[in-house]
Amino acid sequence: MMTVPEFQQYKREGKKLIVVTAYDALFARIVEQAGIEAILVGDSLGVVVQGKKDTLSVTMEDMLYHTRLVAGAAQQALVIADMPFLSYQISVDEAVRNAGRFLQVGAAAVKLEGGAPVVDRVEAMTRFGIPVMGHLGMTPQSVHRYGGYKVQGKERPKAEALIEDAKALESAGAFAIVLEAIPANLAHDITQTLTIPTIGIGAGPHCDGQVLVLYDLLGLFDQFVPKFVKPYAHLKADALQALRRYKEEVEQGKFPTDSESYR
Ligand code: KIV
Repeated sequence: MMTVPEFQQYKREGKKLIVVTAYDALFARIVEQAGIEAILVGDSLGVVVQGKKDTLSVTMEDMLYHTRLVAGAAQQALVIADMPFLSYQISVDEAVRNAGRFLQVGAAAVKLEGGAPVVDRVEAMTRFGIPVMGHLGMTPQSVHRYGGYKVQGKERPKAEALIEDAKALESAGAFAIVLEAIPANLAHDITQTLTIPTIGIGAGPHCDGQVLVLYDLLGLFDQFVPKFVKPYAHLKADALQALRRYKEEVEQGKFPTDSESYR
């Protein structure tokens, strides 16, 4: 089983960290068979599983349910649970209690979004033994503040603020930081500045690792495909083809045949 210290060791050894999301036991097992180092139970499930337009309505109960499924199946990968909107913003106490609940259902770490405003949460969680992954750049829970899913940190003051946020998260004890939708050179500078690993998504090739949403990577989700997504398969097309063939064969009496029937 991958541990948080082992995960961090990858950066020191110059080895890339590969992370993908998963939301259920079936895919958690497949992801592990591929030798992926860490599984993020992302609140992206609000969009790709629940069909919402953003992640804001995902609840603690939703996240605990999916984390339990993934953690119950995973045997090798580090399981990181995403803290949903309003589960850590209200107070440090509430944030620590909610983070702890993820460890109780089997996650080894939690992830939360933001810089300076969450530094005290990260510090408190770390102090109580809860490993925390930070998340900077285009943080989806702030989509309304950005006015859409837009690249962040293009202007110099914003880029400098992101570097300061990254340093503050590291000092507070974060064990790694996701960098989402920021210019590649900024991700490079942050990666060089920090001793903890950076995990990029739309942040160029210089991060210590990469993360993608599983359904994007597999070509299952096509309602919104950001520039940074590379589909490594086309499972939606495959699924459609299979379902159409099944329908056609039943209609034409070609399925089931003797070989699918009991005698
Ligand atoms: O919710 C999620 O899946 C994420 C990743 C895209 C980093 O936060």
